[in-house]
Amino acid sequence: MGKKYFYLLIAIILLKGGYAQTLNLMPWPTEIKIGEGQFVVDKTLKIGVEGNPDKRFHPNLVRFIQQLSKRTTIPFDRDSVLISPVDASMVIKISRPGIVKLGEDESYTLKIDSNKILITSQTELGAMHCLQTLLQLLERDKDSFYFQRLEINDKPRFAWRGLMIDGCRHFIPVEVIKRNIDAMAMVKLNVLHWHLSEDQGFRVESKAYPKLYLMGSNGEYYTQEQIKDVITYANERGIRVMPEFDIPGHATAWMVGYPELASASGSYKVEKFFGVFDPTIDPTKKETYRFFEKLFKEMSHLFPDEYMHIGGDENNGVQWNKNPNIQEFMKKNGIKSNHELQAYFNLKILEILKKNGKKMIGWDEIFQPTLPNSIVIHSWRGREAMEDAAKKGYQSILSNGYYIDLFKHASEHYLNDPLPKDSKLSPVEQSRILGGEATMWAELVNAENIDSRIWPRTAAIAERFWSPGDINDVDDMYRRLDVVNIRLEEAGIEHIKCREAMMRRLCNGSNIEPLKILLDASEPLKGYKRHGSKPYTTEYPLSRPVDAALSDAPEVVRFRLLFNDYKKTKNKESYSQMLDLLEKWVNNQASFNSLAANNTALKEVVTLSDNLMELASITRKLLIQINSGIRIDDIEGDMLKIQINRLKTPVAEMELPLSTLTLDMINLLKDGNKME
Ligand code: ACM
Repeated sequence: MGKKYFYLLIAIILLKGGYAQTLNLMPWPTEIKIGEGQFVVDKTLKIGVEGNPDKRFHPNLVRFIQQLSKRTTIPFDRDSVLISPVDASMVIKISRPGIVKLGEDESYTLKIDSNKILITSQTELGAMHCLQTLLQLLERDKDSFYFQRLEINDKPRFAWRGLMIDGCRHFIPVEVIKRNIDAMAMVKLNVLHWHLSEDQGFRVESKAYPKLYLMGSNGEYYTQEQIKDVITYANERGIRVMPEFDIPGHATAWMVGYPELASASGSYKVEKFFGVFDPTIDPTKKETYRFFEKLFKEMSHLFPDEYMHIGGDENNGVQWNKNPNIQEFMKKNGIKSNHELQAYFNLKILEILKKNGKKMIGWDEIFQPTLPNSIVIHSWRGREAMEDAAKKGYQSILSNGYYIDLFKHASEHYLNDPLPKDSKLSPVEQSRILGGEATMWAELVNAENIDSRIWPRTAAIAERFWSPGDINDVDDMYRRLDVVNIRLEEAGIEHIKCREAMMRRLCNGSNIEPLKILLDASEPLKGYKRHGSKPYTTEYPLSRPVDAALSDAPEVVRFRLLFNDYKKTKNKESYSQMLDLLEKWVNNQASFNSLAANNTALKEVVTLSDNLMELASITRKLLIQINSGIRIDDIEGDMLKIQINRLKTPVAEMELPLSTLTLDMINLLKDGNKME
């Protein structure tokens, strides 16, 4: 096919909006042109590499072949698949070895023709992203596996695309960290921010100060060998590992072994509760800095990334206010506030980090004009802090809006753009926004349910960090996320398996289906409401129904997509699928009751199941009315709203997101509102 005709065809396809929509890419590429025809993947596939990649590329290519083999069930043998590029059907050209560091070139181009695939990239990091793209592009029909003919030109929008994992509130074992690194690579994230010290635990082996982890944890910590292993594992996948040692607040665990670090005398215990606590490092003592000289020298060797995160958040100042020596020190040195005292501390820490070749990053509380603009501000309290920092010449990253511990919908995170279209920042200021990080705080997660809290939502966030800002169609994101969800399992994420195991435990060997139907329609309370509603501690079991409920109730997401489609197209198939779902929810009450009859672990959600039945039957009635154009008057609408608001009341720290759609339906049915 001539080039001209090829592009004409692309234009037609894109205009029709057809093909591109059905690809299951996430993150969506910067530029994509879709052609006609396919590259069939069969046992004749031969791959050749040209150029000068870093040695990390080969194992990535081998993993690609293994995954392709698994998915297609074609027994590719790596020794016969990998050949000289001259005769290969898939050629990968890489100009130079990449370095896993901020700002490295991660771009690639991909051209798939009917008999040839060509990948080009500056560094192997780009080619590795492309291999992930290819795995997402693999389709099948009744006769073959294939890649759609297309051209992709891709590069990240932001250089810093992170996931923070808190390994402190609950200890998250190395194998869990590693499988999350694989999933990060799948969606082109490139920074693992490892939160390693907290009130509830100091989690790193330190040879310089062994009491930090021996007394400052419950015995669960990462050995230096494990840390090196994780760093190597991540580096092989193009991912930086940045440690966080949170100081001067959130530091109770440090003081269990080293009480002399604290700003108040006494003995300390590893904290079991969650929140903000008083123990704070004393910034006025020379010994404090001697301690950090030695510790950060050790940790700088252990963690080779050029950035070291010093936390700096939520220092409540209580110990500082009460300590007469600290007050005296402040007076003598003209330090007028705790914030200024923290800046004094940060400047001293900065000098130590610099000596060890590190750049400093911290939460937005470290932002203080006396600190040089070589530090990076990590904004969690609001995007204003990030923008303010950018205006004053500081680089920054955004986590406000990406707190995945708060059980919010993927769509909310997805639409939170570090640099929205209407940003008031100048181009130079905008260039200081390096990217962002999803943050997995671990108050309410443990090794068992962390995967289902991180994924699949973080894939939507990864798209926000990688793809152009105008890729923001929520329904299409959810459509693709559904596919990504299964691919995550293929990458090793245990979100589906562990959740089902939790439900099996709750059901004590009985069929889990009624509980699954209920939980697939329920969501944990959002924001910080759960933290306040139970006396959660590091030892409180995270094994109740709410711990197996997902932030986006999957069956309600499906219902919402069907409803949106139905509103647009009046599609009969969508209508009938919605009725089936509602029927399933109505009927589930009886099955759930018999499941829960002799099971005290499920007692707390019986009312939730009753509410789902009642809500689904109202929704069904409304849907039928919408379909037949029967309106409701204001009085009836208001009565229904009262009923729905009652059914919305949280039960066992969960709520029913269907209620939002039901309220939408009432509004739609009210006289005067357009039903199209
Ligand atoms: C934070 O959430 N305290 C950084």
